[in-house]
Amino acid sequence: MTAPVIHILNGPNLNLLGQRQPDIYGHDTLEDIARACATLGGRLGLATQLRQSNHEGALVEMIHAARGEAQGIIINPAAYTHTSVAILDALNLFDGPVIEVHLSNIHKREAFRHHSYISTRADAVVAGCGAHGYTLALRQMAHLLLRS
Ligand code: DQA
Repeated sequence: MTAPVIHILNGPNLNLLGQRQPDIYGHDTLEDIARACATLGGRLGLATQLRQSNHEGALVEMIHAARGEAQGIIINPAAYTHTSVAILDALNLFDGPVIEVHLSNIHKREAFRHHSYISTRADAVVAGCGAHGYTLALRQMAHLLLRS
């Protein structure tokens, strides 16, 4: 059996992880996260591809592409979490599991971060675990797709 493919999608400003408010978002870069997910994915039997864009429409198109290419989506929509009906609508077109990840605990922060459009579609949400949240989400993805 070929390994299910998981797209790990990231929204605006996450390209600057490691430099961006490390007290909130930590010191790991997106490349570090991509590497950790690829290593764990290899062990779990999942193939991971990490993508990032600062543009809402580009993220919508990444989700459309996942329809033909991926069995699951892990997504940190960053600020679009709190604003984007377009990203929610795109995720509603995707048939497989969706797991929402936030490095910070959005519920412990400003009130405008407490609402997530994405959570109404997400099968699971991981928040406040830093970079580790991505590998936790990947383990849950393996549980959902491979029952492991
Ligand atoms: C974030 C939380 C969002 O509120 C914020 O806009 C981000 C990152 C997180 O990973 O903690 O850009 O999604």
